Amino acid sequence: MTATINVDGKSGEYPVHAGSIGPEVIDIRKLYGNTGRFTYDPGFTSTAACESKITYIDGDQGVLLHRGYPIEQLAEKSSFLEVAYLLLNGDLPNQAEHDEFKYLITRHTMVHEQLATFYRGFRRDAHPMAIMCGVVGALSAFYHDSTDIHDPKQRVIACHRLIAKMPTIAAMAYKYSVGQPFLYPDNSLSYTGNFLRMTFGVPAEPYVINPVVEDALDKIFILHADHEQNASTSTVRLAGSSGANPFACIAAGIACLWGPAHGGANEAALDMLREIGRPERIPEYVARAKNKDDPFRLMGFGHRVYKNYDPRAKVLGAAATKVLDTLGISDPVLDTARELERVALSDDYFIEKKLYPNVDFYSGIILSAIGFPTSMFTALFALARTTGWIAQWTEMMEDNDQRIGRPRQLYTGHGPRDYVPLDQRG
Ligand code: ACO
Repeated sequence: MTATINVDGKSGEYPVHAGSIGPEVIDIRKLYGNTGRFTYDPGFTSTAACESKITYIDGDQGVLLHRGYPIEQLAEKSSFLEVAYLLLNGDLPNQAEHDEFKYLITRHTMVHEQLATFYRGFRRDAHPMAIMCGVVGALSAFYHDSTDIHDPKQRVIACHRLIAKMPTIAAMAYKYSVGQPFLYPDNSLSYTGNFLRMTFGVPAEPYVINPVVEDALDKIFILHADHEQNASTSTVRLAGSSGANPFACIAAGIACLWGPAHGGANEAALDMLREIGRPERIPEYVARAKNKDDPFRLMGFGHRVYKNYDPRAKVLGAAATKVLDTLGISDPVLDTARELERVALSDDYFIEKKLYPNVDFYSGIILSAIGFPTSMFTALFALARTTGWIAQWTEMMEDNDQRIGRPRQLYTGHGPRDYVPLDQRG
């Protein structure tokens, strides 16, 4: 099948490729050569930048599949480590593969001892994402034996290192901010249990893991593990397309994730819910969100791709109730969230614009109940998303069609003009 594109009265035929599911794509790689024209698509709303077999989203139906498996099933039945294996390798592991993967990841949880001194260069009040950007980028200075991107073995080791070390790095960022000693990993614990202990444990006493908290956090990690070609993943791919090493690429992804329109939204959503404070004030904030002259938006609402309920928000809405009940916390913020969701979903503005709660709407409530400060929320997102980033990076490295990413532009600046010496400028 082909698509015909007419430019200046001349028509050209362009191949149309079908994926396994989802929209077909028009292959316009020869468009510029044939017509001297670029396409214009700021924000990439209609542009597929790569071929991928990892994650599929149908935003209209609210469907999210990892390697074909629905996210609801993975969140209910799987574990974060198993999902990490799935994203990286394409299939769920059998028992032997599962055990081997767990062993490999567990053996990489420690970080180079010198890295601890790196933290001490930061101010104690540094945002954990600032620390994560710096420390993860710095890993390339510590693990020279896994930065040769052309060696498939080194690529695999870098993937394992990143997945294994992110909880240690994130927990150290937290410990540094509260002035407590770093805790070394305890490899007898689960991936998520180990992270909880490194974050909330102290050397002076044993740390007892609450299984409901461990399970809820593991779910949050699963729900954030990958999301197809979002801004931070595309950043990782773009950085990787130039041949940068995987640690530097993941640091680039972390920088992109930090923004409030992306990973920073869970922090912003909880701040907003706290600011609203009680259900009676909701109409005021909904009115502000609808007011064109007010830049305020309902944080945790709306999504570039989902024009239906974000399936991850559904899972987390239920998990939030369970965690708060188990911990015996009665947080008015959960009542405010539920009421805001009800009001917004019955409001014409939100219905017409297809604005539904996204994954960030409830995750902050759970993370706060567990004891994480809001500044750690995006760092946890980065921890989980590292798995998706590194799986996407690996896929790109194995793709023979991969070229350096180089978008074009619509130039609207000055035409050529002559330099005017400083003393002759008006
Ligand atoms: N509250 C109020 N109005 C909104 C909201 C919102 N949260 N989100 C979108 N709108 C409105 C916009 O004002 C716009 O209205 P208009 O057509 O009258 O101008 C329309 O809906 C479309 O919005 P865009 O910004 O063009 O949609 P886009 O797809 O570019 O943005 C985004 C998606 C960035 C997520 C947006 O919905 C938003 O800012 N939401 C709040 C931040 C947030 O929760 N981000 C988390 C995303 S999920 C993640 O990263 C894991």
